[in-house]
Amino acid sequence: MAAINSTKGVYEFVRLRRLRYGNCFKTKLFGETHVFISSKDSAKSILRNEGGKFSKKYIKSISKLLGPDSLLCAAEQHHKLIRSRLVSLFSPHSLSSFVQLFDRLVVEATSTWTCGTLLIIQDEALKLACKAMCKMLISIENGDELMVMQKSVTCVSEAMLALPLRLPWTRFYKGLQARKRIMDILEKVISERRREIATCHVDFLQQLLANDDKKLEKDEVITRLTDEEIKDNILTMIIAGQDTIAIAITWMIKFVDENQEVLNELKKEQVEIEKKYRGRVNLTLETLSEMQYASKVVKEALRMASVVQWLPRVALEDCEIEGFEIKKGWNINIDARSIHHDPSVHSDPNVFKPSRFPSESKPNSFLAFGVGGRMCLGKNMAEGMMLVFLHRFVTRFKWKVIDSDSSIQKSALFNKLKSGYPVRLINVKEEDMNKKVM
Ligand code: HEM
Repeated sequence: MAAINSTKGVYEFVRLRRLRYGNCFKTKLFGETHVFISSKDSAKSILRNEGGKFSKKYIKSISKLLGPDSLLCAAEQHHKLIRSRLVSLFSPHSLSSFVQLFDRLVVEATSTWTCGTLLIIQDEALKLACKAMCKMLISIENGDELMVMQKSVTCVSEAMLALPLRLPWTRFYKGLQARKRIMDILEKVISERRREIATCHVDFLQQLLANDDKKLEKDEVITRLTDEEIKDNILTMIIAGQDTIAIAITWMIKFVDENQEVLNELKKEQVEIEKKYRGRVNLTLETLSEMQYASKVVKEALRMASVVQWLPRVALEDCEIEGFEIKKGWNINIDARSIHHDPSVHSDPNVFKPSRFPSESKPNSFLAFGVGGRMCLGKNMAEGMMLVFLHRFVTRFKWKVIDSDSSIQKSALFNKLKSGYPVRLINVKEEDMNKKVM
């Protein structure tokens, strides 16, 4: 509990024990046995589930908040069924439309930011991510429903590490209430679509409902997702893709700001790209593929920040890891953060050095999105969002950091900066104009 409430973040608990006990240690948390592993080779075989000895398992509060049918928490067969239905939503075509959508939202937002504006990067990135997710998944983009979604999703995220006590004043209870509000909105939207009141939508929900119809025609009822599965997984995708991306963008801007040489090289590349495509309405996937240095910046920021610090699994049978006996039912956590900062894997691991890629890209050493059958479904989207934000931000603005404190938000599941990273903006274009006038 002390670690959950610490400004060093909940990971401090793991870090201190790893220093003391090494690559593989066991501890008791909330009455259950947890093993933490920071060896790259063991991580690989556990995450790739070689031998089928492991499944995914989150703590009770997370699985209750996301719901019994959430892809993130589902066990093997159920997971395979849901993943097979969701994976088609993340096609190259969806990715391409999504990049343009996200760019439109970033351009809209940044056009209201002027010289002198005080921005909390994390809050702005969170608003943008929530808007983009809600639009892509269920076509909610503005209005009261978006506000309710934004607030409720934050409430659910904040309850993830709370003790699962259903008492009205607890964070967990408030999270459950927020989940109920989200479920009510989703139920209303699904029922309108089913009654064909609103059919002209191009979004993930519409594709899931349309696939239902196709499967039903062919009498393949067993594989269709139920409404409960659809609702739990829309919520899962909003949660999985909102906080993570906002946090990753915030760390990325902080790392770039603290490394002026990187910023200069990045600006050089991005200004060139901006000139080349000036006059085009939105950034496209093709444009992003030209951002070679920026892609390294994104990857390095994800390595350094390790937004998702460990990946949880459960042992399905007795087995041996790193020479230790593991009992069936024990929780196994892959310590991704430690592997990202292991000097035998990455040279000078605490230095922000985008140029380390691709030469330091060793198999299974980059775990920001996991590896294997449970790997992040939104990986390409997340990288696309980070590139879009980076491009618009560094080509339009200069900024001054107001609070560079690296304290971590207490009670947060992810590695989240407490300050949110406040900066004051200097609009690049305005500055150029002032120079010309002088
Ligand atoms: C920088 C942003 C992101 C990071 C760092 C991230 C990281 C992760 C990680 C570490 C996992 C779990 C892997 C495991 O346990 O082995 C995961 C799962 C998942 N992520 Fe992401 N993610 C990000 C953005 C997104 C986005 C934008 C979406 C899109 C909706 C998304 C959707 C998912 C889903 C659906 C899963 C569950 C996959 C499964 O269990 O089969 N994520 N993500």
